Amino acid sequence: MDKLVNLATSDGVAVITINNPPVNALSPGVPEGLLAALDVAEEDPLVHAIVIIGGGRTFIAGADIKELEMAASGRGNGPPEFHGTLASIEDTSKPVVMAIHGTALGGGNEVAMAGHYRVATPDAQIGQPEVNLGIIPGAEGTQRLPRLVGVAAAVDLCVSGKPIRAPEALKLGLIDRVIDGDLLTGAVAFARELVARGGALRKTRELTDKLGSEFVDASIFVAGRDQARKTRRNMLAPLKAVDAIEAAVTMPFDEGCKKEREIFEECIASDQARALIHAFFAERAVSKIPDIPKEIAVYNIRQAAIIGAGTMGGGIAMACANAGISVRLKELQQHALDHGLETIRKNYENSVKKGRFSQEVMDQRMALIQPQLTYEGFDQADLIIEAAFESMELKKHIFREIDKIAKPDCVLASNTSTLDIDEIASVTARPGMVIGLHFFSPANVMRLVEIVRGKATSKEVVATALALAKKLGKVGVVVGNCWGFVGNRMMLPYMREAQFLVEEGATPEQVDRALTSFGMAMGIFAVDDMGGIDVQWRVREERKHMEKPGLRVPLMLAKLFHLGRLGQKSGAGWYRYDENRKPIPDPEVHTLIEKTAVEGGIERRPISDDEIIERCIYIMINEGAKILEEGYALRAADIDVIYLTGYGFPAYRGGPMWYADTVGLKKVLDRIRELHAQHGAFWEPAPLLNKLADQGQSFATYDASHDRALALAQ
Ligand code: 3HC
Repeated sequence: MDKLVNLATSDGVAVITINNPPVNALSPGVPEGLLAALDVAEEDPLVHAIVIIGGGRTFIAGADIKELEMAASGRGNGPPEFHGTLASIEDTSKPVVMAIHGTALGGGNEVAMAGHYRVATPDAQIGQPEVNLGIIPGAEGTQRLPRLVGVAAAVDLCVSGKPIRAPEALKLGLIDRVIDGDLLTGAVAFARELVARGGALRKTRELTDKLGSEFVDASIFVAGRDQARKTRRNMLAPLKAVDAIEAAVTMPFDEGCKKEREIFEECIASDQARALIHAFFAERAVSKIPDIPKEIAVYNIRQAAIIGAGTMGGGIAMACANAGISVRLKELQQHALDHGLETIRKNYENSVKKGRFSQEVMDQRMALIQPQLTYEGFDQADLIIEAAFESMELKKHIFREIDKIAKPDCVLASNTSTLDIDEIASVTARPGMVIGLHFFSPANVMRLVEIVRGKATSKEVVATALALAKKLGKVGVVVGNCWGFVGNRMMLPYMREAQFLVEEGATPEQVDRALTSFGMAMGIFAVDDMGGIDVQWRVREERKHMEKPGLRVPLMLAKLFHLGRLGQKSGAGWYRYDENRKPIPDPEVHTLIEKTAVEGGIERRPISDDEIIERCIYIMINEGAKILEEGYALRAADIDVIYLTGYGFPAYRGGPMWYADTVGLKKVLDRIRELHAQHGAFWEPAPLLNKLADQGQSFATYDASHDRALALAQ
């Protein structure tokens, strides 16, 4: 028997086990192995029922995404096709029971649904997450799922891409039993019950009672498309998934499967699928650091201590408590501590109200957070995170203090978003233990953590930070120590360019509309108002000495700051805000912009949305190319992950560097050269961009060759 799939028979039940670590993807060999095992079981007169189970940590996590990647880029023999396998499972003359643990996702659930019955462990997760990859279920999932769970639930599962746990799957009819205790034992017992009961086998494709009709389901499809447009703005696949489910209602099963296949092939050939598949692998590649072996020892973080209970400190405390790490949360003043704790409590209460978790879970998490005004217990902490005001002097003062208190193997981290981590580390006697952990606000929600590796930071500490990020359910991206690291260093020219655009003739709302139409989660001026004009102003002032003299400076920021228009917090910034914090375009700002332009001798003109996108996005790409060449990011794909997980860049565009590849580096460079000629020094093309464009290369090919070179250097 093929070792990817094993067969063992005992007392009339054949157990087929899939062994394709790490996640039993349906890679080449697995469907063939399954078919061969099924054939043997079908032919064996001593076998009366069949159980299919996953070896290792999971059932089947889906089609092999590497194969999908090949198909998406036009390589290989087209996308994988499972029709024959599924039909053979369903047509087996003996009951087939699917035993699910871990995850049954995408093709995994599609295989499961071809079985006659399904059982699962209570914590198993089942779903159709294909939309996250820019595709629809392509192995008859859109046809079998509505037959099992009904049309509305199928639409929701396929559009949201979110998995459900076994108890909910049981309620919906997706599985037939939740097994407490040993899964295989329970599945075999279930199979024996079926044999004893006898009767016809239940083939999912023959079920029709939950399908409704075109007429009855019409409103579900309308609602599904609305949900798709709202929650997955500008994306093709979620809408197409609804089309495919509609075919399950309007067409016979085989016709519906053909329709699904056509749509699946259309989606996989799209730029969106290529970008999202890139994002999937990029997110998993970030933790692979060439000079840090996978087996390196890491510090065990059980107790953390945080300095500063403001927005960042409080959010980080929640992120730790959510992962079961106990936290001491220190503030200087009682009122600030009380306020910080109250905010945490309110956040948790909101989650309980929304049903995200129970009151009991909230109580457990609150109990893990110990508010205090002193350094008591800091000597026991495995990790201390400083989350104080963004001032070098203050941070140095804090690091001097914690260096005296912390135990020798305590990791000392700063949550600085721009400052020099080496300078901070230099005041301690253990710079090797110092690292930057740049969380993003709200830190209990946002997935990104920039892990800033100083020149002395030890490999063990970097590996510990990566492991911690994973434990917190976040994506840790290792970056080098330059001003603003990767994310904020690219954000600065982006914000600057947006401000130049309004001075030259656009309005804040036009810029924001163009950016959100492009797919950004928020417009840059709305972001500015949310973060605070004063914060931006201070950043600008702090780095004034770093700017080359004679360069153009945006004029509006100072005006807003001095008028006290500090953004959402003061009720007005680039926009005005109502009591629900909804941004409202403000004629006063328009007048101020016009006046400021006159004072600055700037001639205003109509600005197109295309110009807005090019100037805002290309300036980031150019900065990204400089960062990459200077070695502050390891890969272009790391920059993409930072922008996708921390800055609201649209996932279906793959991140700024991937987007540049999609446009074509030559085209991007040509436009940057034009902008350089028109607007001067800020637009000087990055040498790496020049080089790659001249050679007809892309950032993706650069990553591939660079990764190889780094690997060879080890
Ligand atoms: N194909 C290929 N490789 C996969 C994979 C898949 N379906 N799922 C995970 N992997 C790989 C990852 O790339 C990673 O590889 P690496 O160690 O070399 O970096 C390894 O498996 C472990 O993955 P994670 O680091 O993500 O492990 P976690 O334990 O955190 O998560 C998981 C496990 C929940 C299964 C997560 O990997 C996941 O969500 N995978 C994708 C599931 C999915 O989208 N399935 C649908 C695929 S599309 C499909 O089935 C089309 C069908 O309709 C025809």
